[in-house]
Amino acid sequence: MIQYIPHEPLSVQWIPLTSMLSLNLPWLSLEIEIEEEQKEWITQAVEKLKSDPTHALTQKFLENLREYPVSYYKARPIEEIPSREGLMPEEFLAFDLVTPRSLIKSINSSLQQHIPALLPDVWSWSAEEMSKAAQIQNSDYYDPLSTVSYLIGKRLETESITGQVRAALPQQLDKLRENKESLFFDTMKILLRQTHYVTNCFEKCSGPALQKFSAAESVIKKFMDEEHGHDRLMVASLKELGCDDVNTISPFDTTVLVMELFKNAAQTSPLAFTLMVGYFEGVTIAESDPLADVLEKSTKPQAAKGYALHHKINKDGDHSNVIFELAEFLPLLTKEEVMYGMRILELASVLGVMSDRALYELSQGKP
Ligand SMILES: [Fe+2]
Repeated sequence: MIQYIPHEPLSVQWIPLTSMLSLNLPWLSLEIEIEEEQKEWITQAVEKLKSDPTHALTQKFLENLREYPVSYYKARPIEEIPSREGLMPEEFLAFDLVTPRSLIKSINSSLQQHIPALLPDVWSWSAEEMSKAAQIQNSDYYDPLSTVSYLIGKRLETESITGQVRAALPQQLDKLRENKESLFFDTMKILLRQTHYVTNCFEKCSGPALQKFSAAESVIKKFMDEEHGHDRLMVASLKELGCDDVNTISPFDTTVLVMELFKNAAQTSPLAFTLMVGYFEGVTIAESDPLADVLEKSTKPQAAKGYALHHKINKDGDHSNVIFELAEFLPLLTKEEVMYGMRILELASVLGVMSDRALYELSQGKP
């Protein structure tokens, strides 16, 4: 049976003098209108949210909110999770997980100094909290569904550092378009090139997961098929903006490193691969792509097609849910596997925050 546990930073309050409930997390704010006859049980559920999360009313409340990332799955009893029969011995212990810097260096030893220098000295996600959330009672093993859903919250928490910057990016770009369209196009080329690099590497990098995570082969294949050709959409958009050779624009170091992390994840760990797929696909999918919308308004609206089509494929294929489709096939996890996947995802999230900042700087029209 699935039970929900609210993510630690969730706070829920009634908005005074209204029938509205306000839910807040660093990555999400919601206001929900509550009908009069529902108020009583919801008040009780909210009161027990932290003190007794598995109470039936709290569970009913969280179940109603399950389409939003407000809770994770409680670790299930060991019998409900696929066992570990036939699993290959893990190879990833060669990586140095001591700090973000040591991990990145063990994955890419030829790395220029400036990225490692910008990384935090220590990890910020707590190994102890991770164990509390996903370790199965009276067992050394971890529940894969709890692990994955809990880490979605940690990723969103880290990404919320630049949440405002990311949310403001389309408006900022639109301002640039109005003031100086040529500079706007140059900036969009750099953005498109990042997406091109990611989509171009994606298939190559995912390939090894078909063997390493063979239990989920059909899900991975279907997902790879849907992603296939996304890079060509980006090439077409770049052409519209006057860039005939993608190689004339370099991807950011952070973009390259995230793809290296992904490649390593696919080669070494089904859990890390699953978490990275979730990292790329995000959580909820908006009605339209904000970057496509901005390009649409420009004098080269055809350049919007790449992002717009990519968005539609993600939405039609429900790609934000692929992380859970994959997680269904994960077996019981060892502590080493969980810590490895967690650190890969944490490093990717930190690199993502660095990319967000770089993109925002660019969108301000600074040469
Ligand atoms: Fe996708």
